[in-house]
Amino acid sequence: MDYKPSNVDEIDKWEEVQLVYKAALKQMRTKLEILSADFAQTHKYNPIEHIEARIKSSESIVKKLKKNGYESTIENMVAKVNDIAGVRIICSFTSDIYRIADILSSQSDIIIISVKDYYKNPKPSGYQSYHMIVSVPIYLSDRVVNVKVEIQIRTVAMDFWATLEHKIRYKFEGNPPRHISESLMECARMVSALDDEMLCLNEEIMRLDAMKEE
Ligand code: GTP
Ligand code: MG
Repeated sequence: MDYKPSNVDEIDKWEEVQLVYKAALKQMRTKLEILSADFAQTHKYNPIEHIEARIKSSESIVKKLKKNGYESTIENMVAKVNDIAGVRIICSFTSDIYRIADILSSQSDIIIISVKDYYKNPKPSGYQSYHMIVSVPIYLSDRVVNVKVEIQIRTVAMDFWATLEHKIRYKFEGNPPRHISESLMECARMVSALDDEMLCLNEEIMRLDAMKEE
């Protein structure tokens, strides 16, 4: 059953929402930490460089509802905002993105709600990442609820670009001067070329390693 806030007063409802999303974030984080440890142990190679997790602030949730024309109610927050709980997975190579996405998709308790592949189809800004909205079951005292989590998977190079672009956009309140946007697009192309080159290099190294072992 998809999570819906209980029919209690607004303060208790908000407390419950926070508890449920924090639990979902913990659940996802634990899953990823287990994956990361297993990769390091079993494959002697860990595609996960690091993991970030955050709960969206109430101010940002309200801002998003307003932007999309919804009234600021707790019910709308849960129904309309998919990224209250967000996890970011930073990996080494572009091939790792799909490897991680496939593993998560194959876990039987994770339900994939939607996927946006901004690696294959970058945004006009130049932004690249692989996004999934999933839901994970949370076992409460009297029911099990499916809670949505936004997962962003990107390489270290993509993360460098996205972090800088976010800061610049913030500085210019969403509208940087054209020459800056163009420079950012050029940087995004360089990020993409760097990721391709690094992937080729890594494949070459793996080939040489395999030959040595033969
Ligand atoms: P938001 O309202 O921004 O959450 O967009 P959305 O609900 O249409 O989803 P989308 O998949 O486009 O973006 C979700 C998240 O991806 C954002 O909250 C950002 O964290 C990140 N993102 C998307 N586009 C950009 C971009 O152009 N630059 C940067 N730095 N991050 C982006
Ligand atoms: Mg967002």
